[in-house]
Amino acid sequence: MGSWLFSIGPKDLGNVLCYYRSQSGKKIIKKMTGNMIKILLVDDNPTNLKVLSGAMSDSGWMILVATDGERAIKQAEYATPDLILLDVMMPGIDGFETCYRLKDNPMTEEIPVIFMTALNDTVDKVKGLNLGAVDYITKPFQQEEVLARVGVHIRLRSLSKKLIQQNEVLENKVQERTAELMDALNNLQKSQVQLVKNEKMSALGQLVAGVAHEINNPVGFIAGNLSQAEQDIKSLIKIIDCYQKEYPNPASHILELSEEIDLEYLKQDVPDMIASMKQGTDRLRNISMSLRTFSRLDDRARVQFNVHEGIDSTLSILKHRLKANENRPEIKLLRQYGEVPAIKCFPGQLNQAFMNILSNAIDALEESNNGRSYQNVKEKPNQITIRTYLLDADWLAISIGDNGCGMSEEIRAKVFDHLFTTKAVGKGTGLGLSISREIIEDKHQGRLICHSVVGQGTEFTIELPISPGD
Ligand SMILES: Nc1ncnc2c1ncn2[C@@H]1O[C@H](COP(=O)(O)OP(=O)(O)OP(=O)(O)O)[C@@H](O)[C@H]1O
Ligand SMILES: [Mg+2]
Repeated sequence: MGSWLFSIGPKDLGNVLCYYRSQSGKKIIKKMTGNMIKILLVDDNPTNLKVLSGAMSDSGWMILVATDGERAIKQAEYATPDLILLDVMMPGIDGFETCYRLKDNPMTEEIPVIFMTALNDTVDKVKGLNLGAVDYITKPFQQEEVLARVGVHIRLRSLSKKLIQQNEVLENKVQERTAELMDALNNLQKSQVQLVKNEKMSALGQLVAGVAHEINNPVGFIAGNLSQAEQDIKSLIKIIDCYQKEYPNPASHILELSEEIDLEYLKQDVPDMIASMKQGTDRLRNISMSLRTFSRLDDRARVQFNVHEGIDSTLSILKHRLKANENRPEIKLLRQYGEVPAIKCFPGQLNQAFMNILSNAIDALEESNNGRSYQNVKEKPNQITIRTYLLDADWLAISIGDNGCGMSEEIRAKVFDHLFTTKAVGKGTGLGLSISREIIEDKHQGRLICHSVVGQGTEFTIELPISPGD
């Protein structure tokens, strides 16, 4: 094997060719490849260059040559060799000056330099090392020594390159982590905004509870008076019947008046009117009751609470969303309530979690109806199933399932993430489930689990301890 010998200048950049001269003297032109190890030999003496390149002929390294300091600096800039062997005595700028300029240049300062000095020249060796050279080799050259020293420095150079690369990787990682921390900080700030919103919600809850209470009183006395009115009207009708029996032929003006007000119709209609008024007041009472149950403000201490009441009050608030509309029949509600005891909890907050999960179920059903006809939905109706059951003596479970659009595993893995939403802007904020999980897991030491199959539906299971230690 011979060695790769070449020298390049600015013109050659971008398409660097080098030639290889075999021992028979044949010249083979090759294109320079990026990952070849390059060594720059700098010596004004062609014999020295020949001896040195001959010593390295079997190494597979690419040998670049320069015959003076100026050219050496240019070559070092263009070709960034892995190592420079630099003669001290040269016409023009000498080896020391060349070394000084190489070390002073950001493009070449990292390239290790080995000085070539005469055997006894201690002063030169020390001067070279002080200028930043990594080693020296002595003339006349000993082939083994040259190869060994060059080999060591090539390895050192490649290790230090690796270190630099790893440093870069580390720096990138630090930057990534910093960006992640910044993200986390942003999210934290958003959560704080959300906390403020939650406080507002609780103020709203207070207002709702107050209004519900105020409605309850007048509704109560209307309902009470209606019952009395019903009795009184029955009595009046009884008396009219009695009069009609006793006096079948009343005076003509009484007959005329009876016909004018359609007495017979009134006798039948008034009791019906009273009955429908009673139904109305019953509904008003239920609504006000639900509002009060739903908005129970109970942040300070746990209270005994019947989860069925909580679910029912939430459902009555969501009633308008379950009703039939022009696109679909009513959403079917299956309540499979088991025998479960009251639990010690914060009812207002649990209701908020029920509300979030049930609203999501309705959204998912509506999404699954997209592109389906009314008839099609009627045949395979939208359905929400709510089950309550005991897991063991200490835990109960509430599962809320829908046969809506379901979700992919990828989405399912993110549903509890703060601000994760697949809904359109303005439709979802991505907070419902992260707040619900906080309520169930952090506030109640429970668990919130989600199972879902795309196209089939989703089930959220809330598991709660019955009597948790405060
Ligand atoms: N029952 C469900 N079926 C299908 N996907 C659901 C269901 N429940 C939640 N998801 C998915 O989880 C996402 C996050 O739900 P989450 O309640 O946290 O936020 P959101 O409903 O998008 O917005 P909001 O803050 O108004 O509740 C939803 O956008 C939806 O993609
Ligand atoms: Mg939601």
